[in-house]
Amino acid sequence: MDQEQVTPMNSHHFLIIVFPVQGHINPSLQLAKNLVRNGAKVTLATTSRGLKQIKSLPTIKGLSYASFSGGQDDDESQFQKDFSSYMADLRRIGSQSLTNLVQKFSADHEPVTLLVYSMLLPWVAVVARDLQVPSAFFSNQSATVWAIYHRFFKSQDGIHGDIYSLLPLELLGLPLFSSSDIPSFLLPDNPLSGFVLPVMQEHIQVLEEDPSSFVLVNTFEELEQESIKAIANFNAISVGPLIPSAFCDGSDLTDKSFGGDLFSKSEDYIQWLDSKPKSSVIYVSFGSLAVLKKEQKEEILHALVESGRPFLWVLRSSNSEEEEEQVHKMIENGVKGDGIIVPWCSQVEVLSHQSIGCFVTHCGWNSTLESLVSEVPLVGCPQFSDQTTNAKMVEEVWGIGVRAKANGENIIERGEIKKCLDIVMGDEDRGKRMRENAGKWRGLAIEAVKEGGSTHNNLKRLLEITG
Ligand code: UDX
Repeated sequence: MDQEQVTPMNSHHFLIIVFPVQGHINPSLQLAKNLVRNGAKVTLATTSRGLKQIKSLPTIKGLSYASFSGGQDDDESQFQKDFSSYMADLRRIGSQSLTNLVQKFSADHEPVTLLVYSMLLPWVAVVARDLQVPSAFFSNQSATVWAIYHRFFKSQDGIHGDIYSLLPLELLGLPLFSSSDIPSFLLPDNPLSGFVLPVMQEHIQVLEEDPSSFVLVNTFEELEQESIKAIANFNAISVGPLIPSAFCDGSDLTDKSFGGDLFSKSEDYIQWLDSKPKSSVIYVSFGSLAVLKKEQKEEILHALVESGRPFLWVLRSSNSEEEEEQVHKMIENGVKGDGIIVPWCSQVEVLSHQSIGCFVTHCGWNSTLESLVSEVPLVGCPQFSDQTTNAKMVEEVWGIGVRAKANGENIIERGEIKKCLDIVMGDEDRGKRMRENAGKWRGLAIEAVKEGGSTHNNLKRLLEITG
């Protein structure tokens, strides 16, 4: 992508560094757009490989794009093959390459005034400190998740702590968190714990070492009041929900997508949705990273068909071809409801479509917020990371959905999924209450981002303190 030529609008130049996965790109791009709308100049940068993989990027005055080398720039699959070597190269080569980029901006009289970095990149704070540029961490996960990580690292012996001695975990104003509710990486038997926990700990360490830094969280004050207070000593500022404005507050009706997809969308589904009655369709998607087991896909398909409701299911083509074929075969062999399967879609557009009645989701933080803002109740089927915590909050705190329970093999069976669908989409009191709650949260989210709302004021404050 060519670097867009922009004229600086004022003294702010935010450089936002994004880890190149969809769940980080989308909210970072939206944050960039919102900052630009408030008068800042923003450059969004990711690895050269990541930038090449993004299908297209929005053209907006004041927003430009850049890349830095993360090593392994030509190997498209290394990230999935050997995460640990990918991350080591990213830190080693990325630190130098990013330093060069920031220095180039200074030489070009466009000095970076705030270096913002997304999750998994704590080394960017070290680059910022060495270059004497202020920095802020952007959390694309909830304030509650950060409050839980913080509690773990503070009350234990760092990454060697015993999470079980803290359980059930208590956070002010929230129900107790058991082992199945906390971020899964905190459990010692999680295969990625040994790798992810040191990175999370480093994030907290670099923030503590620099009391002038901030944490920008994709949430809003009304949604997570107590958890935001619990991480207040990191100068936590809520800047969400980061959703394209056409679907959030309608302030910019042309802003209808995040605009930085890594996957190719199919085109046919909106017409199909148009043909369905209001609130009748089940939307199913597990985000951009989770790969479901073969048995899990079978259980989902049977549950959808047995529910008798129309469904739109995103089955990414990055899942193995063999597994995709398996679902298509099941459909050919008669397990065939009134549904369509697509490799990728514009999720924010789908969720805001009047035909959608429920979202079967892994509860990634973006999906959770997007569903809440679209007033769509959820069936949570968390897979890993923060998704377990989000699913708990959805069911027990915000009252906008239910969490489906997995069996001993970690599979959510068809009967369980169907039961949850009947609760959420049915006419019983519980389902009705969820839909009412979803409406209440949507209203509060819209208020937060409007002129004078909590998020809007926070963005203004951020610009003041970094100006
Ligand atoms: C990752 C982690 O897995 C998640 O736990 C964490 O909270 C955020 O980072 P991911 O699994 O991709 O994210 O899920 P999610 O946070 O829901 O983000 C997915 C994004 O892709 C959403 O913004 C969603 O709108 C978008 N999407 C998904 C599409 O645009 N089209 C699709 O077909 C599916």
